[in-house]
Amino acid sequence: MRNVVVLYDSVTGNTAKIAESIVNGLKRGGNVNVILKKVDEKFSLRILNDADLIVLGSPARYANVTPGMHTLITAILEAIELGIINLKGKLFAFFGSYGWDGGIALEKVFNKYAKLMGLKVLLPGFLITETPSENDLKLAEEFGLKLASLLK
Ligand SMILES: Cc1cc2nc3c(=O)[nH]c(=O)nc-3n(C[C@H](O)[C@H](O)[C@H](O)COP(=O)(O)O)c2cc1C
Repeated sequence: MRNVVVLYDSVTGNTAKIAESIVNGLKRGGNVNVILKKVDEKFSLRILNDADLIVLGSPARYANVTPGMHTLITAILEAIELGIINLKGKLFAFFGSYGWDGGIALEKVFNKYAKLMGLKVLLPGFLITETPSENDLKLAEEFGLKLASLLK
């Protein structure tokens, strides 16, 4: 069994919908335990220690991730520095929704933090514009399925 932790933020619900579809795809892949949390939920960062794959999702917000996702990433980096968690070599993927920048900001920010956290990016991010269409959700599920297959 492989462990996947999906952590996301969403202000108006677009990224939340993608998160659910990715999780459906991961579960369809079989042999995968998935933990899904929104950034304002209560959970221990230690769940990341047991993860084979960490997936982060956020909407674009002023050419960055949301303040909530930024706070979480900062806390993760500090926990790594303090030796509370160790993520070196674990796999990473990301997703999100943007309005107008083509997803460039999310791509830059998530790739930067993956490097700082010592994570290995498994696939290019799954990024969509604004509210996901039925087709976007189908593609998000396929993205989850692909991630699960790459964990085998
Ligand atoms: C205050 C604010 C700032 C935003 N900044 C950006 C941005 O820098 N680049 C971009 O492409 N979209 C930006 N957007 C658009 C959101 O990323 C987009 O609407 C997204 O679908 C929201 O996702 P959510 O429903 O998961 O919150 C911004 C939206 C708001 C409200």
